[in-house]
Amino acid sequence: MKFLFLITFIHILPQCSGNPLSRHHTTSEEIKREIARYSDIAKAIINLAVYGNAQNRSYERLARFVDTIGPRLSGSKNLEMAIKYIFNALQEDGLENVHLEPVKVPHWERGVESAMMLAPRSYNISILGLGSSVATPPEGITAEVLVVTSFDELHKRAQDAKGKIVVYNQPYISYEETVKYRLLGAVEAGKVGAVASLIRSVTSFSINSPHTGLQKYQFDVPKIPTACISVEDAEMMARVASRGTKIVVTLKMGAKTYPDATSFNTVAEIVGSKYPEQVVLVSGHLDSWDVGQGAMDDGGGAFISWEALSLIKELGLRPKRTLRLVLWTAEEQGGVGAQQYYQLHKVNISNYDIVMESDEGTFTPMGLAFTGSDKARAILKEIMQLLQPINVTNIYENGGGTDIDFWVRDGVPGASLYDDISKYFWFHHSQGDTMTVQDPSQMNLCAAVWTVISYVIADMEERLPR
Ligand SMILES: *[C@@H]1O[C@H](CO)[C@@H](O)[C@H](O)[C@H]1NC(C)=O
Ligand SMILES: *[C@@H]1O[C@H](CO)[C@@H](O)[C@H](O)[C@H]1NC(C)=O
Ligand SMILES: *[C@@H]1O[C@H](CO)[C@@H](O)[C@H](O)[C@H]1NC(C)=O
Ligand SMILES: *[C@@H]1O[C@H](CO)[C@@H](O)[C@H](O)[C@H]1NC(C)=O
Ligand SMILES: [Zn+2]
Repeated sequence: MKFLFLITFIHILPQCSGNPLSRHHTTSEEIKREIARYSDIAKAIINLAVYGNAQNRSYERLARFVDTIGPRLSGSKNLEMAIKYIFNALQEDGLENVHLEPVKVPHWERGVESAMMLAPRSYNISILGLGSSVATPPEGITAEVLVVTSFDELHKRAQDAKGKIVVYNQPYISYEETVKYRLLGAVEAGKVGAVASLIRSVTSFSINSPHTGLQKYQFDVPKIPTACISVEDAEMMARVASRGTKIVVTLKMGAKTYPDATSFNTVAEIVGSKYPEQVVLVSGHLDSWDVGQGAMDDGGGAFISWEALSLIKELGLRPKRTLRLVLWTAEEQGGVGAQQYYQLHKVNISNYDIVMESDEGTFTPMGLAFTGSDKARAILKEIMQLLQPINVTNIYENGGGTDIDFWVRDGVPGASLYDDISKYFWFHHSQGDTMTVQDPSQMNLCAAVWTVISYVIADMEERLPR
């Protein structure tokens, strides 16, 4: 399929002769001068977002939204209400082509859940079931605990794991490295005959908070119930076990997977004046986990993306290419909405100039992460100079994101907001992901960065080269 698609893509390319690149060669000096001419517009965007009438707007909008709706789990009534809310808000904002694109999304609910330590003392462990986990029987699963610090240790002690509840107390290295315990902990424990798994939350800092997230079963491995526990409780059980003391836990989980639900990707545009078929896509995801308010993950990213269109509209600007806002659904279930959007729209891939996603917080921005050709990167480097007034001029590697990677893999330039994520995983997927984490002045800066970059790319005479 992919191979066939590539061939089609090559055939389409010569038709993109709306692209002046294919007609005449432009020197990088010319491009530099062209970009420098955007400096007044960049300043106007920065002034409006950071100091002017739009100061704190993305924050205020987000606060009203998450205080009204709350968290927005895939398949939930809350997510449905959120999409209606945002659809109306985008229309009221006067944006163009506001519409919903239907998507079938997973519908899992955690139900009532608890974990009670019976030995060596009576203690209630806070847990959050992991997305897609099966339930325990109603009376729960009562079993002895085996604590391990790695998959290696689990496999070495495979004989000990049979019939036990495996507790993973893996050290936190980085999210990318450590998240495999959350994703695969139940499968690995299931392979060696464990009856359930409890996984130390994937976070660099904790005040006794469990952090949920998606996990994945394998069809040929028994499905065992699985939940995350706090760093504190994982370490406590590890200490107790290391003294040779037996730990017994009763785990009860009422999780249930329902048939897929109908949800929507939410889309709005500022239609391009000269190349309306060409698209600069800015995005964040509207769904969240079912804890906290989903303000940080990814309310912030979704609302600065909306803000980009609001600011451009308010300044009376209309770029040459279409600026398209997409608020993805069911990102937390593995980029479900984004995958469907890609399947539906990839026929037009040659018209996608750049895909941008903000999904790693909207803290103090430091620059832009970018994936694309060296030529495109050189152009982005010039564009970043327009953000000198707020000192956000850096450009980093790896501008991907769950929701845009489908396009980036096929060669579309991709960018993500690069901000100060030092506290991001403290709150990620936990009850702590609330509006209190967000800061209005940081969001103003993020919105300014997002807007200047997307506007200039959408308006430059030439397309971003691949
Ligand atoms: C924006 O938020 C900052 C920080 O909370 C506050 O000092 C400022 O007054 C706010 N501006 C407006 C226009 O509300
Ligand atoms: C644990 O929670 C249960 C149910 O809420 C409660 O009845 C019990 O007293 C708690 N146990 C401890 C040790 O706090
Ligand atoms: C592809 O682009 C054309 C031109 O903008 C548009 O009319 C059409 O609806 C697009 N198709 C899809 C599936 O997005
Ligand atoms: C600009 O940002 C860099 C980090 O990206 C920082 O080291 C420097 O101190 C900042 N300069 C000012 C004037 O804020
Ligand atoms: Zn996210």
